Amino acid sequence: MSTVITSTSDEQLLKNVQLLGTQIGRTPLHRISRLFNKPGVTIYAKKEWQQLAGSVKARAGYAIFKAAIENGSLTQQKALLDATSGNTGIAYATIGHRLQVPVTLCLPENASPERKEILQSLGADIIFTSRFEGTDGAQQVAKELADKSPDKYFYADQYKNDNNWKAHYNSTALEIFDALPGITHFIAGLGTTGTFTGTVRRLKALNPAIHCTSLQPDNPLHGLEGWKHLETAIVPGIYDSSLADDSLEVGTEEAWEMIKAAYHYENLLLSPSSAANLVGALRVAEKLDQGIVVTILPDNADKYKDIIKNLL
Ligand SMILES: Cc1ncc(COP(=O)(O)O)c(C=O)c1O
Repeated sequence: MSTVITSTSDEQLLKNVQLLGTQIGRTPLHRISRLFNKPGVTIYAKKEWQQLAGSVKARAGYAIFKAAIENGSLTQQKALLDATSGNTGIAYATIGHRLQVPVTLCLPENASPERKEILQSLGADIIFTSRFEGTDGAQQVAKELADKSPDKYFYADQYKNDNNWKAHYNSTALEIFDALPGITHFIAGLGTTGTFTGTVRRLKALNPAIHCTSLQPDNPLHGLEGWKHLETAIVPGIYDSSLADDSLEVGTEEAWEMIKAAYHYENLLLSPSSAANLVGALRVAEKLDQGIVVTILPDNADKYKDIIKNLL
């Protein structure tokens, strides 16, 4: 059972944020054995929903919170502020709730009702932004608010905050390499790009021969929640275009087909972006004669009621 921390001293807050670290990361790897079976080639997928707040974004959210509390820029008297339509918001709100640090989120007004409900039930203060401007518009509103009231807010700015990618450099990559030191290929989609940037930087430092493929949606009006179509969106400040050895595009339809296949063959109930990562991993693996291919499953289908209603 989780407990809500109620202490208010800065020293206690520091201890509490460190304690919360035990609930971040250390997620299991699932071996894909029925959807893909080729002698000499294996695919592993990291089940990132098996940690605090149910997604990969616990890692970045926590690293951002922790660094800000440690350097004194975030206290219980300020609110963490950021733009997010999804998992980062849920991670921030969960961590804020546990540490009794206020959280304010700028959210496009067309975010799903269940997403709004989760965030509100965790006590986050929500500022709705234009549905027509998506997460780029939410980022703009958050920035304006932070500029106007610097004493009220700590602006987390996940798209530019180095603690986003560093979370993966210091945890995701090491967990993968410790479990699978023979890894030959890594594949992941780009949102804020934190997962890909941090994981690839560390994997390449450990073994420069690891071949890394980034994935993007195949058009700007895609349904792969959490991903960005970089040609038409604001490119995240932390993005490093020199890291990927290769890049592939994945269609929303392909991802939805994969949701069905992964459920029936692997007993995995995946979100669209998790399924899209698996599409990318299979495409890479199919071309190999030998190798260990690893991808990320950012979250499962729990927050995507349409998937559960329409597909299964
Ligand atoms: C469901 C989902 N998939 C993929 C991503 C992309 O991860 P990153 O922001 O680390 O690039 C996110 C990010 O929010 C996400 O929520």
